[in-house]
Amino acid sequence: MPDDIRNLPYDLEAGDEIPSNTSANRSFAEIAEARLGRRGMLMGGLGAAITGFIGAAGTRPAAAQIAAPATAAPRGPVIGFRPVPVSPNDTVVVPEGYSVQVLIPHGTPLNGQPAARKLPEMSAAEQDQAIGAHHDGMHFFPIEGREPDQGSSTDGLIAINHEYIEPRFLHARAAGQSIGNGRMPLVDNQRDAEEVRKEIFAHGVSIVRVAKQANGQWAVVADPRNRRIHGATPMEIAGPARGHALVRTKYSPDGTRTRGTLNNCAHGVTPWNTYLTAEENWAGYFRNLDQRDGRPALPREHARYGVPTSQARYNWDQVPGGADEFARFNASSTGADATQDYRNEPNAFGWIVEIDPFNPTSAPVKRTALGRFAHEGVVFGPAREGRPVVAYSGDDSTFEYIYKFVSARPFNRASANGSLLDDGILYVAKFNADGTGEWLPLRHGTGPLTAANGFADQGEVLVNTRLAADAVGATKMDRPEWGAVDPRDGQVYFTLTNNTRRAAAQVDAANPRAQNNFGQIIRWREANDDHAATRFTWDLFLIAGPEGDSRIAGNAPVTADNMLACPDGLWFDADGRMWIQTDIGEAQQLRGPLAPFGNNAMFAANPVTGEIRRFLTGPNGQEVTGVITTPDKRTMFVNLQHPGATTPAADWAAGRVNSRFPNGDGVPLSATLVITKNDGGIIGT
Ligand code: FEO
Ligand code: CA
Ligand code: CA
Ligand code: CA
Repeated sequence: MPDDIRNLPYDLEAGDEIPSNTSANRSFAEIAEARLGRRGMLMGGLGAAITGFIGAAGTRPAAAQIAAPATAAPRGPVIGFRPVPVSPNDTVVVPEGYSVQVLIPHGTPLNGQPAARKLPEMSAAEQDQAIGAHHDGMHFFPIEGREPDQGSSTDGLIAINHEYIEPRFLHARAAGQSIGNGRMPLVDNQRDAEEVRKEIFAHGVSIVRVAKQANGQWAVVADPRNRRIHGATPMEIAGPARGHALVRTKYSPDGTRTRGTLNNCAHGVTPWNTYLTAEENWAGYFRNLDQRDGRPALPREHARYGVPTSQARYNWDQVPGGADEFARFNASSTGADATQDYRNEPNAFGWIVEIDPFNPTSAPVKRTALGRFAHEGVVFGPAREGRPVVAYSGDDSTFEYIYKFVSARPFNRASANGSLLDDGILYVAKFNADGTGEWLPLRHGTGPLTAANGFADQGEVLVNTRLAADAVGATKMDRPEWGAVDPRDGQVYFTLTNNTRRAAAQVDAANPRAQNNFGQIIRWREANDDHAATRFTWDLFLIAGPEGDSRIAGNAPVTADNMLACPDGLWFDADGRMWIQTDIGEAQQLRGPLAPFGNNAMFAANPVTGEIRRFLTGPNGQEVTGVITTPDKRTMFVNLQHPGATTPAADWAAGRVNSRFPNGDGVPLSATLVITKNDGGIIGT
């Protein structure tokens, strides 16, 4: 772990998740244990323990089994490339017959011109008009602007998230100083305004037009729609929490507006062609110094989310002068009431934010009906005329939950817009031991979510989504990351990236390892294949890990060519190939039990047969996160985030860095890869 982030309020590494679920709800493991019995699991080992939880037929409705011809096994999508080996090298490797171009690295100006200054010399004002840091979820919107996945395959708007920053790569002043991958050191207990602004502007979302040039290379194209949305951009608050007492601040005394979106991890794409960005590990950007009797005294909407009580993640509130743009990160009660200070500023974060990439003057909108938590991303079920809109989202922290939103109004293609996301029911998942599951509504007045139990109205339920989910008895999961819906059969897949906090006593079928280093992928099928249903059946598609300590549904073998750990990014292409991206944390990469997996990588999977092949390996220190193709599936965009993050502080001070991606010199930069097949074919075939 980098040394100078040890005093963060959570004992994880830079950018990681905040464990704060102290509820008594049973974990996923405990439920599965109750079903199988610990003795059976311990004696039977991994293979026996997972029987009934893995394997395609076990939990499928009978109709699906009957539909398949008895003689021909279903094949699923074609995966045709030769897998690449595990790599510990500071390069990008793709299969034979594929080519890679680097596009829009951090600091690329949005105007299509070369940068006047490269990072880390770039000013805050220049960062305000350039691609941000730490690329994560993204979408390619074909330039016609009508359908999210139909239209041009050579010209479009990329909407891309910038999850967080590495200050030592961002600021010229960091050169030669002993700084790890956490935060800049304070000078006289203070931060510099220009540096803090640059950090705030490096977060958020970029909208940037890119087009394929005559020479086959892609380039940024100047366009009035190119814009940066970041940690200071004015935004609307919509849905049941709009105007609520818990979101009123000095900036917006009526609780209808806020500034900025932070820690934008994965994303979503609406059926009406807008972009959603998910606010994940936002709590650490604030701090609340309120004390009573010498102890921290936090309201539950801060405490349950891990708002720090001493130092904020990047110390943004510690700029001298107390200017509002910085003071808002101090969530202590310093004024006479909530409209005189920023005690409620953290309550304006933790939401799904909607952005219209085709309307540069539109304000982003925080859609509060989808709940407030560490949203990893959001993924929609297929939009069907006259049926509700359904969106799934995971809360990426240890022992947190998986949610889904079902709109009150039906989808109508001609009139659909973001207001569909303002009215509906948010559910949280309960995974039963028998392979069935239930969606439990988080609706004010239903079950325990009453005024008598501290939930005065639906706004209060949503600001305290985690507490509401605790109250209804949701199932604690192992860090839910991305979700994806199989276009062929509608099954929903979610990555559960790892959970090293799982105690030996909790080992069971669904979480078959103590100190689970490797993660798994769960999937479910909604009752009657109706995404608005309140019941489902589930199994595990993959228990990740090394050969001999892992399983794939369909009994496909785990080999050196496909073993993977810490699944995170997940996406289905239109043919039904499932793309899996890994995020082995910086402290674990190339070390201990994670050493055999090499650098983070991307895989293609056939969800029907369980076949998995390694498609791409990335440079040192990065994670692979974010993937989309053009509509013709012949150009793929993939993001590499935080190359070089594994550089020890002492090495950095001595002028050494673990990665020189992508330029071969200077500071390492997050960037988007453009991947094509040399014969012009479909990626993955
Ligand atoms: Fe930002 Fe959970 O990954
Ligand atoms: Ca992630
Ligand atoms: Ca990460
Ligand atoms: Ca992750």
